[in-house]
Amino acid sequence: MSGKKKIAIFASGSGSNFEAIAKACLHGRINAEVAICVCDHPGAYVTERAKRLDIPVLEIRQKSYPSKTEYEKVILDELQKQGVEFIALAGYMRIVGDVLLKAFPNKIVNIHPSLLPAFPGVDAIGQALNYGVKVFGVTVHFVDQTLDGGKIIAQAAIPYDGNDREELETMIHAREHALYVSTLKSLLN
Ligand code: GRF
Repeated sequence: MSGKKKIAIFASGSGSNFEAIAKACLHGRINAEVAICVCDHPGAYVTERAKRLDIPVLEIRQKSYPSKTEYEKVILDELQKQGVEFIALAGYMRIVGDVLLKAFPNKIVNIHPSLLPAFPGVDAIGQALNYGVKVFGVTVHFVDQTLDGGKIIAQAAIPYDGNDREELETMIHAREHALYVSTLKSLLN
């Protein structure tokens, strides 16, 4: 349908956020179409989810290219072919480089499983548990050249006073799916 923005979702792993966003688009809760899933870890479970939802996948390894620039140029070329206007990172385990940042200024967002600026980087949930915090959370932010340091768009706090990592992860993921969908809805509608 015309009027729908075409978006790309970048993911490296399981893709539960990918699936939540893709389904929200398919059901019209977000006024966008997921034109492509970019996966830098061929065979990751997100690729199965994408195939089930009939969403094209670009599986690409950075190490197959001489530099991040070359790698991102190939991705950019594909995004331009698909008419992509906006990118949502969903468990994409790489710093986005200049090629994509320049092509999509203020049009790349990410979700992170902590109340940024606390606990940026890998294993934010483990970092927060080890620190002993009692309020966990999730953040959606714009992506810049820093690690999880771009302007914050939305956050949700999750009070939790236990030490069952699995239980906490389940709570965090559920909150991520809701917050990412509602944030994209307001950014893209
Ligand atoms: C999420 O916790 C997200 O915040 C982080 O990576 C994880 C991806 O999970 N950036 P999934 O692949 O969407 O299930």
